Amino acid sequence: MAGVAQIGWYGLGSMGIGMATNLQKHLVATKAKDLVFSNRTRSRGAPLQELGAVEETSFSKLVSKCGIIFTMVANDDVLNGLVSSVVASGESLKDKIFVDCSTVHPDTIGAAAAKLKEKNAAFVCAPVFGGAPVAAAGKLVFAIGGPQGARETVKPLIQDIMGRKVIDCGDDPQKSSLLKIAGNIVTVSLMETVGEAQVFAERTGLGTGPMEELITEAFGPTAGSYSQRLTTGIYAPPLNTRPGFGVSLSIKDAAHALKMAKDANVELPALEVAQNNMIAAREYGGECLDSSSMYGILRQKAGLAFWNEKSRQGGK
Ligand SMILES: NC(=O)c1ccc[n+]([C@@H]2O[C@H](COP(=O)([O-])OP(=O)(O)OC[C@H]3O[C@@H](n4cnc5c(N)ncnc54)[C@H](OP(=O)(O)O)[C@@H]3O)[C@@H](O)[C@H]2O)c1
Repeated sequence: MAGVAQIGWYGLGSMGIGMATNLQKHLVATKAKDLVFSNRTRSRGAPLQELGAVEETSFSKLVSKCGIIFTMVANDDVLNGLVSSVVASGESLKDKIFVDCSTVHPDTIGAAAAKLKEKNAAFVCAPVFGGAPVAAAGKLVFAIGGPQGARETVKPLIQDIMGRKVIDCGDDPQKSSLLKIAGNIVTVSLMETVGEAQVFAERTGLGTGPMEELITEAFGPTAGSYSQRLTTGIYAPPLNTRPGFGVSLSIKDAAHALKMAKDANVELPALEVAQNNMIAAREYGGECLDSSSMYGILRQKAGLAFWNEKSRQGGK
């Protein structure tokens, strides 16, 4: 099917734009049909159009044109809305493959898969690990779960195009969602730890430079990139820009993990600390903050300003 199916993409946020760009470049290079894309904010698609991709004005129109439909949207409500709208549209969805790359709760994935199965469509849950620069570089790690035939169809569109690694979680799409939620326990807790270490380094006179060098060398490039989000100030970017990983998205991820942990009688104290600091950061600095903005609260608790010399200097 992959050889002939028209491929569609909905969702051109910080992650989606890089992923869709890499996919379109691959389709051009292999002389396949150009990507059909859509996004709520239409101007976000301009760079894709320049590469030859074709815009559709709504998700339902995109679905009617495509056999394989990728979605990369903010949260559970948005995905629910998209799936419900196409299921209710009455259009035939037979043999279509829906591939969602967003981070959502396994229950949301289960419900979406069931609704689409009733319409004889397949649903693959394919959440990703890595930030916007990693997405732009085509080096994400994917976890994919869903019916085997559909998984095999979409893997060649991912491996070495949008991702450096595909972790196959088998037939159950909820498993890949669960892996993503579990991975975010590490992501968010590591951001908190790096932030704490950097505030410690600044307040003790060690300095953030040597600390960042050490974090990168001893704990790897991912930890190093979290440190750079602080030292370059992008934890609090200018108000008219889109954060790399918006603080509300990270709060959503941590909330999913904390709820699932509670249901499973597991304690996640480090994640709870990080979650409270992210919520406090959002209260102080608003939505235009990166997930690493718990750093601003850690700074305040140590008697420093929320903003550092490289971040924006106020506003929300
Ligand atoms: N950023 C990261 O580092 C990262 C890493 C791994 C996973 N994730 C996950 O990947 C997903 C996307 O993240 P992102 O950083 O790309 O988010 P983002 O920049 O906030 O983009 C979100 C996307 O969802 C769309 N959207 C939001 N609300 C909508 C609505 N009510 N109706 C229709 N479309 C709507 C946005 O459209 P507009 O363009 O119109 O706003 C945009 O296309 C999230 O689930 C996130 O948790 C993010």
